[in-house]
Amino acid sequence: MNWAVITGASGAIGRAISACLAQRGFSLVLHYHSAEEPMQKFSFEISRRYNVDTKILPADFTSENSTRAFCETLESLKVPLQCLIHCAGGVPSPNSLSRITPSDWNTIFSLNATAPFFITQAALRLFVPNSDIIFISSISTKYGGGENTLHYAAAKAAVESIARGLARRLAAETIKVNVIRAGFILTGAHKKMGRTREDIQERISKIPLRRVGTPDDISRAVSFLLDSPFVTGSVVEVTGGD
Ligand SMILES: NC(=O)c1ccc[n+]([C@@H]2O[C@H](COP(=O)([O-])OP(=O)(O)OC[C@H]3O[C@@H](n4cnc5c(N)ncnc54)[C@H](OP(=O)(O)O)[C@@H]3O)[C@@H](O)[C@H]2O)c1
Repeated sequence: MNWAVITGASGAIGRAISACLAQRGFSLVLHYHSAEEPMQKFSFEISRRYNVDTKILPADFTSENSTRAFCETLESLKVPLQCLIHCAGGVPSPNSLSRITPSDWNTIFSLNATAPFFITQAALRLFVPNSDIIFISSISTKYGGGENTLHYAAAKAAVESIARGLARRLAAETIKVNVIRAGFILTGAHKKMGRTREDIQERISKIPLRRVGTPDDISRAVSFLLDSPFVTGSVVEVTGGD
């Protein structure tokens, strides 16, 4: 039985992707940061529903020590890895252009770019042939971020470059590497950033398809990439035309 690792499996998009992979028969290593109880419940339910094995692994990717410990644990699991999804991310330190501090910058980069790179490096020994790595990036890379998220957009742009570099280097090992560039997806992340219902309505009015995306829109793109043996080094936009 082959395994998938999903970072940020406790988030809305991470849960949708995890369920999709379990449905496809993967056993799962599910990462979370703070949502321990919901993660335990989700892990139990998914394992029972799809008859797959699950393990849960906590880590704070804004901390170098915690990321290192996560990487060491991952390597020690010695599972045959066929899929690695980098979904942990977000904007823990939103701030305006003139107020972004070095600490805000480092926090955002650690979570959204640095940790995904070092987790991939640690996972390399576990991959079986014909594997996939997928990074969840953001439409913000196209616009350079919003009012308080310039540093977030820069970190996601970095991860897109990391993905392209990995795709070229890992192709010989039959590991495909792709990016899903997510548009505006309705999850708890927006509320955490203080966005109001009005903010969200205004944002929707700028999306050509005139609706928000859902976590399932992203998991469908994951399925597409897993089913596409000739697609690597690509950025798949799931943005409603944004
Ligand atoms: N929602 C959107 O519109 C949108 C658009 C573009 C890209 N994205 C990207 O999609 C991914 C998932 O976002 P989401 O909307 O599903 O948000 P979410 O529900 O808030 O999930 C965020 C995930 O990241 C984890 N996380 C947060 N801080 C962390 C930290 N310090 N260390 C390790 N993990 C941490 C969370 O863990 P806990 O919950 O356990 O703390 C959770 O699993 C992110 O990479 C985000 O940047 C989202």
